[in-house]
Amino acid sequence: AAGTVIAVDGPAAAGKTTTCLALANTFGLRYLESGRTYRIIAFEALRREIPVDDTREITGLCDELLMESRTESLLTAERYASDKLRETPVNVAVSAVAKIAEVRQRVTGLIRLWAKTQAQCVVEGRDIGTAVFPAARVKFYLTASPEVRAMRRVRQERADSYENVLADVIRRDEADMNRAASPLVAAEDAIRIDTTRLTIDQVTSRMASACRNQG
Ligand code: C5P
Repeated sequence: AAGTVIAVDGPAAAGKTTTCLALANTFGLRYLESGRTYRIIAFEALRREIPVDDTREITGLCDELLMESRTESLLTAERYASDKLRETPVNVAVSAVAKIAEVRQRVTGLIRLWAKTQAQCVVEGRDIGTAVFPAARVKFYLTASPEVRAMRRVRQERADSYENVLADVIRRDEADMNRAASPLVAAEDAIRIDTTRLTIDQVTSRMASACRNQG
Protein backbone atom coordinates (compact mmCIF):
# COMPACT_ATOMS: atom_id res chain seq x y z
CA ALA A 1 0.00 0.00 0.00
CA ALA A 2 2.91 2.32 0.69
CA GLY A 3 3.53 2.53 -3.05
CA THR A 4 0.35 4.53 -3.45
CA VAL A 5 1.14 7.20 -0.86
CA ILE A 6 2.10 10.80 -1.56
CA ALA A 7 3.93 12.10 1.52
CA VAL A 8 3.98 15.81 2.32
CA ASP A 9 6.08 17.09 5.21
CA GLY A 10 7.36 20.42 6.40
CA PRO A 11 7.25 22.94 9.22
CA ALA A 12 4.12 24.60 10.60
CA ALA A 13 2.05 26.70 8.19
CA ALA A 14 4.17 25.96 5.12
CA GLY A 15 1.03 25.44 3.03
CA LYS A 16 0.77 21.66 3.40
CA THR A 17 -2.96 21.43 4.08
CA THR A 18 -4.07 23.77 1.30
CA THR A 19 -1.87 22.19 -1.36
CA CYS A 20 -2.64 18.64 -0.22
CA LEU A 21 -6.36 19.28 -0.48
CA ALA A 22 -5.87 20.67 -3.98
CA LEU A 23 -3.79 17.64 -4.99
CA ALA A 24 -6.36 15.29 -3.51
CA ASN A 25 -9.02 17.05 -5.57
CA THR A 26 -7.01 17.00 -8.78
CA PHE A 27 -6.12 13.32 -8.60
CA GLY A 28 -9.11 11.99 -6.67
CA LEU A 29 -7.01 10.90 -3.69
CA ARG A 30 -8.02 10.48 -0.08
CA TYR A 31 -6.38 13.04 2.16
CA LEU A 32 -5.09 12.65 5.71
CA GLU A 33 -3.88 15.41 8.02
CA SER A 34 -1.81 13.50 10.58
CA GLY A 35 -1.26 16.55 12.81
CA ARG A 36 -4.95 16.42 13.68
CA THR A 37 -4.46 13.17 15.61
CA TYR A 38 -1.60 14.59 17.66
CA ARG A 39 -3.82 17.59 18.32
CA ILE A 40 -6.72 15.39 19.50
CA ILE A 41 -4.42 13.65 21.99
CA ALA A 42 -3.13 17.01 23.26
CA PHE A 43 -6.70 18.37 23.46
CA GLU A 44 -7.87 15.39 25.53
CA ALA A 45 -4.82 15.64 27.80
CA LEU A 46 -5.66 19.28 28.54
CA ARG A 47 -9.33 18.49 29.05
CA ARG A 48 -8.51 15.68 31.51
CA GLU A 49 -5.74 17.73 33.13
CA ILE A 50 -3.05 15.18 32.38
CA PRO A 51 0.45 16.70 32.30
CA VAL A 52 1.55 16.60 28.67
CA ASP A 53 5.15 15.70 29.51
CA ASP A 54 4.20 12.63 31.57
CA THR A 55 5.09 9.83 29.16
CA ARG A 56 3.33 7.09 31.08
CA GLU A 57 0.10 9.03 31.59
CA ILE A 58 -0.02 10.30 28.03
CA THR A 59 0.66 6.86 26.61
CA GLY A 60 -2.15 5.53 28.79
CA LEU A 61 -4.46 8.27 27.53
CA CYS A 62 -3.50 7.40 23.99
CA ASP A 63 -4.44 3.74 24.51
CA GLU A 64 -7.70 4.74 26.14
CA LEU A 65 -8.59 6.99 23.22
CA LEU A 66 -7.73 4.25 20.75
CA MET A 67 -10.05 1.84 22.56
CA GLU A 68 -12.85 4.36 22.89
CA SER A 69 -12.74 5.29 19.24
CA ARG A 70 -13.21 1.89 17.63
CA THR A 71 -16.05 3.00 15.44
CA GLU A 72 -14.65 6.40 14.57
CA SER A 73 -10.88 6.34 14.08
CA LEU A 74 -8.87 8.95 15.91
CA LEU A 75 -7.50 9.87 12.52
CA THR A 76 -10.76 11.15 11.17
CA ALA A 77 -12.90 11.65 14.30
CA GLU A 78 -15.33 14.39 13.38
CA ARG A 79 -16.56 14.99 16.90
CA TYR A 80 -13.52 17.23 17.42
CA ALA A 81 -14.17 20.66 15.93
CA SER A 82 -11.13 21.84 14.00
CA ASP A 83 -11.14 25.31 15.55
CA LYS A 84 -10.98 23.80 19.05
CA LEU A 85 -7.95 21.77 17.99
CA ARG A 86 -6.23 24.93 16.74
CA GLU A 87 -6.55 27.02 19.90
CA THR A 88 -3.40 28.30 21.62
CA PRO A 89 -3.32 25.81 24.53
CA VAL A 90 -3.42 22.91 22.06
CA ASN A 91 -0.73 24.54 19.89
CA VAL A 92 1.46 24.69 22.98
CA ALA A 93 0.70 21.19 24.28
CA VAL A 94 0.87 19.33 20.98
CA SER A 95 4.66 19.43 20.54
CA ALA A 96 5.15 17.90 24.01
CA VAL A 97 2.73 15.09 23.21
CA ALA A 98 4.27 14.52 19.76
CA LYS A 99 7.72 14.13 21.35
CA ILE A 100 6.70 10.92 23.07
CA ALA A 101 7.95 7.90 21.10
CA GLU A 102 5.13 5.66 22.41
CA VAL A 103 2.55 8.14 21.12
CA ARG A 104 4.26 8.40 17.72
CA GLN A 105 4.39 4.64 17.44
CA ARG A 106 0.64 4.38 17.99
CA VAL A 107 -0.29 7.19 15.64
CA THR A 108 2.05 5.76 12.99
CA GLY A 109 0.30 2.40 13.31
CA LEU A 110 -3.09 4.06 12.82
CA ILE A 111 -1.93 5.93 9.74
CA ARG A 112 -0.45 2.81 8.14
CA LEU A 113 -3.65 0.84 8.77
CA TRP A 114 -5.74 3.63 7.28
CA ALA A 115 -3.53 3.88 4.19
CA LYS A 116 -3.90 0.15 3.56
CA THR A 117 -7.60 0.63 3.00
CA GLN A 118 -7.06 3.48 0.50
CA ALA A 119 -6.32 2.99 -3.17
CA GLN A 120 -4.29 6.17 -3.27
CA CYS A 121 -3.78 8.85 -0.71
CA VAL A 122 -1.93 11.99 0.23
CA VAL A 123 -0.76 12.22 3.83
CA GLU A 124 0.67 15.37 5.42
CA GLY A 125 2.68 15.74 8.59
CA ARG A 126 6.23 15.97 9.88
CA ASP A 127 7.58 12.42 9.53
CA ILE A 128 5.47 10.92 6.77
CA GLY A 129 8.22 10.54 4.15
CA THR A 130 10.91 9.65 6.69
CA ALA A 131 9.28 7.38 9.28
CA VAL A 132 5.69 6.52 8.41
CA PHE A 133 6.05 5.77 4.67
CA PRO A 134 9.76 5.69 3.76
CA ALA A 135 8.73 3.96 0.51
CA ALA A 136 6.11 6.55 -0.48
CA ARG A 137 5.69 6.98 -4.23
CA VAL A 138 6.31 10.72 -4.16
CA LYS A 139 7.59 12.83 -1.27
CA PHE A 140 7.45 16.58 -0.87
CA TYR A 141 9.08 18.81 1.70
CA LEU A 142 7.50 22.27 1.81
CA THR A 143 9.20 25.17 3.52
CA ALA A 144 8.91 28.96 3.68
CA SER A 145 10.43 31.64 5.85
CA PRO A 146 8.90 31.75 9.36
CA GLU A 147 7.72 35.33 8.70
CA VAL A 148 5.82 34.40 5.56
CA ARG A 149 4.32 31.35 7.20
CA ALA A 150 3.15 33.38 10.20
CA MET A 151 1.72 36.05 7.90
CA ARG A 152 -0.26 33.49 5.90
CA ARG A 153 -1.58 31.88 9.08
CA VAL A 154 -2.72 35.25 10.44
CA ARG A 155 -4.51 36.08 7.18
CA GLN A 156 -6.14 32.67 7.13
CA GLU A 157 -7.29 32.48 10.74
CA ARG A 158 -7.58 36.12 11.80
CA ALA A 159 -7.62 34.93 15.39
CA ASP A 160 -4.26 35.88 16.82
CA SER A 161 -1.66 38.62 16.41
CA TYR A 162 1.24 38.25 13.96
CA GLU A 163 3.75 38.30 16.83
CA ASN A 164 2.02 35.48 18.69
CA VAL A 165 1.63 33.34 15.60
CA LEU A 166 5.27 33.88 14.60
CA ALA A 167 6.42 32.91 18.10
CA ASP A 168 4.26 29.77 18.00
CA VAL A 169 5.52 28.76 14.55
CA ILE A 170 9.16 29.19 15.58
CA ARG A 171 8.71 27.38 18.89
CA ARG A 172 6.89 24.45 17.30
CA ASP A 173 9.48 24.07 14.51
CA GLU A 174 12.26 24.05 17.11
CA ALA A 175 10.50 21.37 19.11
CA ASP A 176 9.62 19.27 16.06
CA MET A 177 13.12 19.46 14.55
CA ASN A 178 15.01 18.76 17.74
CA ARG A 179 13.09 15.89 19.30
CA ALA A 180 14.69 12.44 19.42
CA ALA A 181 11.74 10.47 18.02
CA SER A 182 11.31 10.96 14.25
CA PRO A 183 12.22 14.66 14.15
CA LEU A 184 11.10 16.94 11.36
CA VAL A 185 13.63 16.62 8.55
CA ALA A 186 13.37 16.37 4.78
CA ALA A 187 13.66 12.82 3.46
CA GLU A 188 16.70 12.49 1.20
CA ASP A 189 14.50 11.67 -1.76
CA ALA A 190 11.91 14.38 -1.06
CA ILE A 191 11.21 17.11 -3.60
CA ARG A 192 11.87 20.32 -1.71
CA ILE A 193 9.77 23.36 -2.49
CA ASP A 194 10.46 26.71 -0.87
CA THR A 195 7.07 28.40 -1.07
CA THR A 196 8.20 31.79 0.30
CA ARG A 197 7.80 33.55 -3.04
CA LEU A 198 5.25 31.24 -4.62
CA THR A 199 1.48 31.37 -4.68
CA ILE A 200 -0.58 28.40 -3.56
CA ASP A 201 -1.49 27.73 -7.19
CA GLN A 202 2.16 27.70 -8.22
CA VAL A 203 3.05 25.28 -5.45
CA THR A 204 0.12 23.04 -6.24
CA SER A 205 0.90 22.88 -9.94
CA ARG A 206 4.57 22.04 -9.24
CA MET A 207 3.45 19.26 -6.97
CA ALA A 208 0.90 18.00 -9.48
CA SER A 209 3.41 17.84 -12.31
CA ALA A 210 5.92 16.02 -10.09
CA CYS A 211 3.21 13.48 -9.28
CA ARG A 212 2.42 13.02 -12.98
CA ASN A 213 6.10 12.57 -13.82
CA GLN A 214 6.71 10.07 -11.06
CA GLY A 215 3.43 8.22 -11.49
O1 C5P B 1 0.27 19.81 11.15
P1 C5P B 1 -0.04 20.46 12.45
O2 C5P B 1 0.58 21.82 12.58
O3 C5P B 1 -1.50 20.47 12.77
O4 C5P B 1 0.64 19.53 13.54
C1 C5P B 1 0.59 19.84 14.90
C2 C5P B 1 1.78 19.23 15.63
O5 C5P B 1 1.67 17.81 15.59
C3 C5P B 1 3.15 19.53 15.03
O6 C5P B 1 3.68 20.75 15.50
C4 C5P B 1 3.96 18.34 15.51
O7 C5P B 1 4.43 18.52 16.82
C5 C5P B 1 2.95 17.21 15.53
N1 C5P B 1 3.02 16.33 14.36
C6 C5P B 1 4.01 15.38 14.34
N2 C5P B 1 4.06 14.46 13.32
C7 C5P B 1 3.19 14.52 12.30
C8 C5P B 1 2.20 15.51 12.28
C9 C5P B 1 2.15 16.42 13.32
O8 C5P B 1 4.84 15.32 15.25
N3 C5P B 1 3.27 13.59 11.33
